[in-house]
Amino acid sequence: MSRRIAFGIDIGGSGIKGAPVDLDTGEFTADRVRIPTPEHSTPQAVSQVIAKLLASFDMPPKTPIGIAFPAPIHHGVVPFIANLDKSWTGVDLPRLIKANTGHDAVVVNDADAAGFAEQQYGAAEGKDGTILVVTLGTGIGSALICNGVLVPNTEFGHLEIDGKNAEKQAADSARERENLTMKQWAVRLQRYFDVVDMLLSPDLIVVGGGVSKKYKEFLPLIKSRVPIIPAKLFNQAGIVGAAAYAAAEEKHLKKREKHDKKH
Ligand code: BGC
Repeated sequence: MSRRIAFGIDIGGSGIKGAPVDLDTGEFTADRVRIPTPEHSTPQAVSQVIAKLLASFDMPPKTPIGIAFPAPIHHGVVPFIANLDKSWTGVDLPRLIKANTGHDAVVVNDADAAGFAEQQYGAAEGKDGTILVVTLGTGIGSALICNGVLVPNTEFGHLEIDGKNAEKQAADSARERENLTMKQWAVRLQRYFDVVDMLLSPDLIVVGGGVSKKYKEFLPLIKSRVPIIPAKLFNQAGIVGAAAYAAAEEKHLKKREKHDKKH
C-alpha cells in the first residue's frame, strides 16, 4: 500500500517550519526545513516564506497542505492576534496562501494542531473523555478534545484570572521575561490549571510547547486532581497536527460534497 502523506507547516514567533508527514505513523518522511520568521511578521512577508518552504520540497500534486497558525482561525480568517504583527487581523489565510503560492491549504490554530497530533499519535492517543491540551510558549494555546472530537479555537490562554490575562502571567515567555525559577513559575501554572479544571472538569491535561521537554522540572511541582502529563510530540506537534488536520478536513469536505450532490 502506498504511504498517505500530507505536508505540515508550523508558523511560530521565531521560526516557520515545514515537513511532509506520514499520516499512518505521524512521522516526518523528510528532514524538516526551518526558516526564521521575518522580523516584521506581516501577512505578505510570512506568505513569502511559506512559498519558499513549499518550493523546497518535491511534493506530488494534490498533497494536502496544513498550516498551524498562532491565532484563532474562523473559517480561514484571523479574528484577532496576540503574538504576531497586528496586520493579520481580518486576513483570510487560505486565500492569501493561494494568491502567493498557488496552493490550496487548510489553516488551523497552532494549539488545535498540536492537540490533534497528540490525540492521533501522541500522549492522548486512543483516549476518551474530555482532554485539554495546553501549549506553553510565547503564549498559552489550548485544544479541547471530547471523545476524539476537537472543539476549535478555545483560546483558554486568554482567560482572565485574578484580573490578569493568563498567558501574560503563566506562558513560558513570562517565565523567561521575569526570570522566574521553575518553582516560582509552577505557582502561576498551579493557579492556571486550578481555574481550567474548575471550568472544564477535564479527564486529562496534556502539556505541550517547547518547554514541555523540561517537564520533569515543573510538572511534579503542580498538585492536581486531574492527571497532567507531558506531550509526546514536543516541537513536531504543530507540523504533524497541521498535516493530519488538513488530510482529515479534505476527507470531510469530500464526504460533504458527495452528500450534497445526492440531496
Ligand atoms: C493565541 C492562540 C495561540 C497561542 C499559542 C495565543 O496568544 O491567541 O491562538 O494558540 O497563543 O501560540
